[in-house]
Amino acid sequence: MTAVTLRQLLPEPGTVTAEQVLDGLALADLAPPYRPYVVVNMVATADGAAAVGDRTAPISNAADRQLFHELRTHVDAVLVGAGTVRTERYGRLVRDPQRRARRVARGLAADPLAIVASHRLQLTPDLPLLADQQSRVIVITASDAELPECAAQVSYLRARPDEEVDLAAMLTRLRIEYGVRSVLCEGGPNLNASLLPAGLIDELFLSIAPALAGSIGSLSIVNRAPLPHPIALELRWLLESQGQLFARYALRS
Ligand SMILES: NC(=O)c1ccc[n+]([C@@H]2O[C@H](COP(=O)([O-])OP(=O)(O)OC[C@H]3O[C@@H](n4cnc5c(N)ncnc54)[C@H](OP(=O)(O)O)[C@@H]3O)[C@@H](O)[C@H]2O)c1
Repeated sequence: MTAVTLRQLLPEPGTVTAEQVLDGLALADLAPPYRPYVVVNMVATADGAAAVGDRTAPISNAADRQLFHELRTHVDAVLVGAGTVRTERYGRLVRDPQRRARRVARGLAADPLAIVASHRLQLTPDLPLLADQQSRVIVITASDAELPECAAQVSYLRARPDEEVDLAAMLTRLRIEYGVRSVLCEGGPNLNASLLPAGLIDELFLSIAPALAGSIGSLSIVNRAPLPHPIALELRWLLESQGQLFARYALRS
């Protein structure tokens, strides 16, 4: 795989690869004592569509894919909603042995934990993530059902009986019971809509495609979140490749 060179526009002009710009990220060091540090990585068109034809591939590019995969080498766990797992056909999270080696060199497990939020547990065992015996999957749910038998190692973080999933409590349990100090959330829009109003997102990595998708049936990166007022973002860096912009924002609380 050839590393794509990105133009760094901010803070200092220059050129970087995905690996270089993320080197030294040390997200776990930023974690508060009671939960992991949570960063969200999303892609959207210039008019805010988070998918085209239900997929992100049409609005991604090579640099976006490299940043997406490289971010996975910096975290204890990747959190994702069941809708995205199904639509994007999630598989083993870090497939490249060199990336797994980089994780180990950083003191992380070779493979991140896969954390899937689901109400209905409608995930079939042929889903590549569940069919992969290397993958360790934690399902966050209020259901008392189980997934069908599958090759992946699956465990459950369940809400209390007759209660909804409380994502803040679940993140605390991930920290205490699994030692998770850094989480990369890859969406999708409905899961983000639960995390954001609860103040559970620390940073947003946003890839902005040089395209307009229109609005018919389109999802934004945060779907119908009940926010009483806009949440301010602080720009940490801005990169560019083939007209695609890559912003790293901190959320101001
Ligand atoms: N632009 C991007 O970067 C990006 C990233 C990811 C996804 N997408 C796109 O987004 C679309 C999928 O959207 P989506 O909103 O359906 O995805 P999603 O947020 O990944 O999935 C929604 C599902 O996740 C589960 N879920 C969400 N919040 C939960 C909570 N608080 N507690 C328990 N379970 C929870 C529920 O699972 P059950 O259905 O099992 O009940 C819910 O139906 C796809 O087209 C995908 O390509 C775009």
